[in-house]
Amino acid sequence: MTTQTTPGLSETPWSPRSWRDLPADQQPPWDDPAALDEAMAELSRWPPLVFAGEARDLTAALGDVCAGRGFLLHAGDCAESFDGVGADAIRDKLKVILQMAVVLTYGAGVKTVKVGRIAGQYAKPRSSPAESRDGVELPSFRGHMVNDIAFEAAARRPDPGRLLESYHHAAATLNLLRAFTKGGFADLRRIHAWNLEFAAASSEGARYEQVAAEIDRALRFMAACGIDLDREKSLHEVDLYTSHEALILGYEESLTRRDSLTGDWYDCSAHLLWIGERTRRLDGAHVEFLSGVRNPIGCKLGPAATAAEAVALCERLNPDREPGRLTLISRMGAGRVRDALAPILRGVAEAGHPVVWACDPMHANTFTHASGYKTRRLDDVMAELRGFFEVCRDTGTWPGGLHIELTGDDVTECLGGSEEVTDADLESRYETMCDPRLNALQSLDLAFEVAELLRS
Ligand code: TRP
Ligand code: MN
Repeated sequence: MTTQTTPGLSETPWSPRSWRDLPADQQPPWDDPAALDEAMAELSRWPPLVFAGEARDLTAALGDVCAGRGFLLHAGDCAESFDGVGADAIRDKLKVILQMAVVLTYGAGVKTVKVGRIAGQYAKPRSSPAESRDGVELPSFRGHMVNDIAFEAAARRPDPGRLLESYHHAAATLNLLRAFTKGGFADLRRIHAWNLEFAAASSEGARYEQVAAEIDRALRFMAACGIDLDREKSLHEVDLYTSHEALILGYEESLTRRDSLTGDWYDCSAHLLWIGERTRRLDGAHVEFLSGVRNPIGCKLGPAATAAEAVALCERLNPDREPGRLTLISRMGAGRVRDALAPILRGVAEAGHPVVWACDPMHANTFTHASGYKTRRLDDVMAELRGFFEVCRDTGTWPGGLHIELTGDDVTECLGGSEEVTDADLESRYETMCDPRLNALQSLDLAFEVAELLRS
């Protein structure tokens, strides 16, 4: 048994189900407890999606980031859809992530740790449990892990069978990702093939081609020097880790297993799990659950967070002060990042906690456009990023990572960019089930900006 206890609460030893004794925010109002139990029992018999050793590798890689020897690229959908498991959609998302990784690795000269919001990002916290339209009130859509987005009573009813469907969709996605990342698709010699067709004609696409051509030349140079590139596995493969918000705790509990090698508990639904801004209360179920699994974990911090809170989260989530265990993801808003983040960075540094500091420049810059669409301006996203880098520099903190929502599809959900998405464009390809995502061009734009910020 693990002996971790819950400080300030009773001396309950941690177990995969100890979260059940604490207030659990954002859990669906499951109305059939027997069906839920049955789904969880089934899920707990199925094989792990990821392995403890892989999670440990990610912790080690993030430990390097913590020490200033790497950069975390954490990217993917706001909410994955069960309809999005087609090979093309997954491949195109991967292409954008690989392109960004190339730009960061080459442009800034630092190792890039790649983590997708992928293969499990099926649940969403909601600001209101119900949604009203034309006088009809139904439960809110909570992501495909819970219910369906259609505004109909049957579709909105939380269905425990969706926990099992989530597992299958995650398994199918992960299987394809493993094939793509280890089977030749991510080979640096295929670097040109990652430029999406609609991106190639743009200025970002051209800028990417230039970097790709330089890398080509460097590879030819090394080959000409007598280095056998075929034998350099690292050129042909990438490690792409998976992650999602650990929101629906029944799903996470059911996929939590004891590692046969070390005896430690791992949440085998993904390599990295994070706690959202809405569920990070210290005395809550989400913090309790993630405190006891040994995966690397993340926690979002919004503008209301205090330095004392951040330090308390560090104590609770990383009491052994293991570098790479904890990534804190700042999402303050372009206007507030400087004032809000600086005292937190200082407080955590004074307490001596090792943390990977990542910037989510999207979530606090969301607004509802006059047309009714939820959107974000690329200018605000860039401004928050620059603010983040500034505060890091002023406080002597390594800017460790970027957390963004993107898609490989040619969408018009966020405003701006050099191939500008204008106010009038929003409605043309607005496809997200939840928050507005950057398209491939906007994502590349951002990667070039971050590479420059990292260099300076
Ligand atoms: N394996 C190395 C890395 O992940 C190099 C590499 C291979 C790479 N394919 C890549 C880097 C694609 C970025 C994108 O850094
Ligand atoms: Mn989101």
